[in-house]
Amino acid sequence: GWTTSSIIDDTIDAVRAQVGEGRAICGLSGGVDSAVAAALVQRAIGDRLTCVFVDHGLLRSGEREQVERDFVAATGAKLHTVDARDRFLDALAGVSDPEQKRKIIGREFIRVFEAATAEVAESEHVGFLVQGTLYPDVVESGGGSGTATIKSHHNVGGLPDDLEFELVEPLRALFKDEVRRVGAELGLPETIVHRQPFPGPGLGIRIIGEVTADRLATLRAADAIAREELTYAGLDRDIWQCPVVLLADVRSVGVQGDGRTYGHPVVLRPVSSEDAMTADWTRLPYDLLERISTRITNEVAEVNRVVLDVTSKPPGTIEWE
Ligand code: XMP
Repeated sequence: GWTTSSIIDDTIDAVRAQVGEGRAICGLSGGVDSAVAAALVQRAIGDRLTCVFVDHGLLRSGEREQVERDFVAATGAKLHTVDARDRFLDALAGVSDPEQKRKIIGREFIRVFEAATAEVAESEHVGFLVQGTLYPDVVESGGGSGTATIKSHHNVGGLPDDLEFELVEPLRALFKDEVRRVGAELGLPETIVHRQPFPGPGLGIRIIGEVTADRLATLRAADAIAREELTYAGLDRDIWQCPVVLLADVRSVGVQGDGRTYGHPVVLRPVSSEDAMTADWTRLPYDLLERISTRITNEVAEVNRVVLDVTSKPPGTIEWE
């Protein structure tokens, strides 16, 4: 049968055959697909692969470290991080409309990634772009290959014409569960291998209202608590995902510590799903919900209320924006 180790060996052979003595570049998102794709190509061509990671400031707590420290430790891959946090905040200033946020984030991401790629390509003559395209993506898009368009997880177009790469897609024949098995076998960190789906625009579309540095810090803290408690409860692999959403333009009265507060609610959105097309709200145990609520309102000063979203999809989408 097609065991995980034979998948790995065959893929490494195929990448070596394709890239030869060439050089490649791979954008890391913090998610499992790009990490496994990069790890495979790293095994195949070593330091002739450069990974590029754009920190857009919309990631969750610990995700940058997972890439910079844990992914690099596990793979030995050469990594170039671009700190673009201020740039994204500037571009998002004053913007509340969800579609506009997505457009801006997608546009800025492409610009930053292009600039970083151009920089690497200039000094190293890079001819190949690695992408974490999975088999279902291949089927969905009609099976085409070879053209350098960035995967639409940032909901945007492709690379400019003057930067031509041949695509390397080591996961093209694999389903998600196979990708996770390959990642585990390659020794990638658990946090990456079993990361739940997380949208390209990140926390930017989980702040209802304008995205600011303070609001991001608030949401990041609340989200980290929810994820931590879900993990302690052993439920993080049972659910599809549990977005935490900050209602940044809503305030309500509370009593915390010494007196009256006028803070923001966060929404817990735990969902169960097979493919994200439809979803059911997850009946999390009350004691877990209580722990999450107590910890968030104790530990995150700006949040004085935790509410639970009990809407299925349809009619609600999984994300609030
Ligand atoms: P919705 O909110 O449409 O989400 O029910 C379905 C799945 O897609 C994810 N999602 C996104 N992923 N860019 C992404 O890469 C996006 O703009 C985006 N919006 C939603 C969402 O987390 C869920 O898993």
